Amino acid sequence: MVEDIVARFKELFKTEPVVVRSPGRVNLIGEHTDYNEGFVLPAAINKEIYFAIAPNGTQTMRAHAFDLDESADFSLTDVHRTDKGWANYLLGVVAQLQKANYEVKGFDLVFGGNVPIGAGLSSSAAVECGLAYALNYLYAYGIERFDMVKMAQKAEHEYALVMCGIMDQFASMFGKHNHVVKLDCRSLEYQYYPFNIDDYRIVLCDTQVKHSLASSEYNTRRQECETGVAILQKHYPQIHSLRDVTLEMLSQHQAEFDPVVYRRCTYVVQENLRVEEACQDLERGDLEAFGQKMFASHKGLQHDYEVSCPELDFLADKARDSDAVLGARMMGGGFGGCTINLVKLAQLDEFTRQMTEAYQEQYGITLKTYVAEIVDGSSLVPLDFSKK
Ligand code: GLA
Repeated sequence: MVEDIVARFKELFKTEPVVVRSPGRVNLIGEHTDYNEGFVLPAAINKEIYFAIAPNGTQTMRAHAFDLDESADFSLTDVHRTDKGWANYLLGVVAQLQKANYEVKGFDLVFGGNVPIGAGLSSSAAVECGLAYALNYLYAYGIERFDMVKMAQKAEHEYALVMCGIMDQFASMFGKHNHVVKLDCRSLEYQYYPFNIDDYRIVLCDTQVKHSLASSEYNTRRQECETGVAILQKHYPQIHSLRDVTLEMLSQHQAEFDPVVYRRCTYVVQENLRVEEACQDLERGDLEAFGQKMFASHKGLQHDYEVSCPELDFLADKARDSDAVLGARMMGGGFGGCTINLVKLAQLDEFTRQMTEAYQEQYGITLKTYVAEIVDGSSLVPLDFSKK
């Protein structure tokens, strides 16, 4: 893959590139908590985007999307959104750098990889973080990783028009081999937990559906959470977000809530508690207990937060019935994408077969499954490797 991307770069631009990789992510638990200043527990995975890049001495970005086999040039003196979807992730990053007064000189770029698009594995965050990392390296800006994460998130807000939280970009930049990372999305403190699951595997089951509700409902959920916070602020002025809210506060003021908003807020508060407990499970090495929290998270996302869909529920239910699985739940924004499953290695093939058969029978769709390995965040790819 990386070899092909480098070869295409040389063919198109006739120079030697620098090569950067940036991964997609999974999230073990802590869903729809990031924009509520709560906790998440993601990891970077071996589904990655590669960037072959070099300065070109002009004021133009000449970009080639390897997987789509499409090229386009963009002036860097007047950067704005375009109707070319893939280019917006790149231009969004350039715009953020320029806003922060970094000079972005012209460059040539070929990028592509194996992060499935629309599967909820954050291919867009991988693209944004990868380009930020690559330009930071190329032009020696000296930008800290966290600042690149924030720029990548802003690029998503302003150029992809998705009001995402910080989790995906954080995971892509801060991933660590065989570790999950708990991020406090308020203080931005983070802690790595070893995730050496020798006898288990993280298996992603890709529904291959993406319901059109996804982004509008995402923004609606954000508003519903804010509505809940506003109600409680009248009683507890110190509250800033659902992170500061307890289940007791909610139940005391339930009568003032619209029932839907009440369920949304309850879910978020419970999910934050689950992340903290799940991290304690990890510390004790109790993966059974950890898995139970994943199942509970799915139930909350399905019934209270209502961001699941029949296909995800079907796969989560099947996984719950299987003795090969410690825990399973929908992952990411919802309304499609993947479930994440903790599966016993000894029963991996059996699990994959059973899930594939069941999904085929129910929806007539051939399930895609991925075994995710946990890798490091965005990095340079050593040249000898890229030359191979
Ligand atoms: C999407 C967003 C993230 C996060 C998840 C839900 O992946 O990009 O910021 O909100 O949904 O946990």
